[in-house]
Amino acid sequence: MDKLVIDGGVQLNGTVSISGAKNAALPILVATLLAPGEHELHNVPELVDVSFMLSLLGRVGCPSLVGIGGRPDRVRLDTTRLAFCEAPYDVVRKMRASVLVLGPLLARCGEAHVSLPGGCAIGVRPIDQHLKGLEALGCTFRLEGGYVHGSVERLVGADITLDVPTVTGTENIMMAAVLAEGITTIRNAAAEPEIVDLARFLRSMGARIKGDGTDTLEIDGVPALRPARKPYAIMGDRIEAGTYLLAGAITGGDVTAKGAPVEDMTAVIEALNESGCSVECTVDSIRVSRSGPLSSVAISTQPHPGFPTDMQAQWVALMTQAGGSSVVQENIFENRFMHVAELHRMGANIELAGNTATIHGGAKLTGATVMATDLRASASLILAGLAAEGTTEMLRIYHLDRGYERLVGKLEQLGASVRRVSEETAVAVGVSVATSAVV
Ligand code: EPU
Repeated sequence: MDKLVIDGGVQLNGTVSISGAKNAALPILVATLLAPGEHELHNVPELVDVSFMLSLLGRVGCPSLVGIGGRPDRVRLDTTRLAFCEAPYDVVRKMRASVLVLGPLLARCGEAHVSLPGGCAIGVRPIDQHLKGLEALGCTFRLEGGYVHGSVERLVGADITLDVPTVTGTENIMMAAVLAEGITTIRNAAAEPEIVDLARFLRSMGARIKGDGTDTLEIDGVPALRPARKPYAIMGDRIEAGTYLLAGAITGGDVTAKGAPVEDMTAVIEALNESGCSVECTVDSIRVSRSGPLSSVAISTQPHPGFPTDMQAQWVALMTQAGGSSVVQENIFENRFMHVAELHRMGANIELAGNTATIHGGAKLTGATVMATDLRASASLILAGLAAEGTTEMLRIYHLDRGYERLVGKLEQLGASVRRVSEETAVAVGVSVATSAVV
């Protein structure tokens, strides 16, 4: 297994290009199942989760080609023929977002067999709301052998009120509703920018959707969809952009995130401003620089447009370097503070009580060997490693490959001293050192 080695204390400066958004790419890839034919997607991030999703689509009979025209971000998919309607355990257990095939498979072939995703490092993460919405559209479900088996004769529009504004749940219901007979209203829907991107993609295939980006979606079902006439470009990743901007802020540097979805990042921009950073925005780029000290800023994670839970761990890392104490409340997931224990090991002073972390800023961080537990916790530890004195070694970095494209290259481009070391190399180095010591 690879590890990441970071020599801290280096200021990050320069411009970084933001990749396509993971959480927009995943539902959009799946949505191609709704329109039989050839699809071309641009700005698809090169991530392990994207590969998982492409292999899942391959398993149901829809092949894809990555790297169209020599561009690694361009993907062509052929969804003409659907051979199976199953998402097996060996795929779903690797990536929870596989559950997104449920809605499209039911809409396209009237049945779906999807392994139930279990809990994960950040929480229990049930899918009851996905099922509730799809049931309202006429689907019936049976849970057996760890699978949810769904079937439907005819999808019919319905008025659905979600108990929680779930992101992938809203996407699943929306993808089934576009092919239902009549009108579907989803109330208390998630309003995340990635849902807006999915709606835009579905519209480019002929769907009729209104209200995306608000808490009420209205979908007027159509009998069939066809592939978009032009290649569709996935939106930029607001979480990747936010992570690099915080890397600039924590090292007292000057970082510009180019290709960031600026309008979707208001909460993070406001928090950075409040913390004493200077923030300059253009239509598609954000520059964050800092010359003075950081001030503490309390945040509370909320559904969009509130402060995103996917930036909480990174914010905690930043606040370890602020003056005074900051309170960070996690309201979306019940167990999303796994980074705190690792940050402690680097010298951070954080009190944890239930869903609230109180960070006593100004602690001197020192490099340590730390363990990544999930994607955003990993990002948080990288930020701490960049600010720490000495060397940080981060283990279990496969989480990062799921959500940050070319992370090491991008950090190096900003001046960070960071490298990826494979265990084989580490062992080999160990051997040669030992050997030379003996000699
Ligand atoms: N929930 C339910 N019932 C459901 C669905 C969700 O109770 O049927 C609860 C969850 O347990 C959680 C809350 O609702 O407490 C919100 O969960 P949500 O369903 O919105 O999360 P998700 O759709 O599984 C997506 C992103 C996550 C991101 C969350 C919140 C994708 C593929 N994943 O997950 O991204 O944190 O929305 O914004 O879009 C990440 O990228 O690191 C990541 C975890």
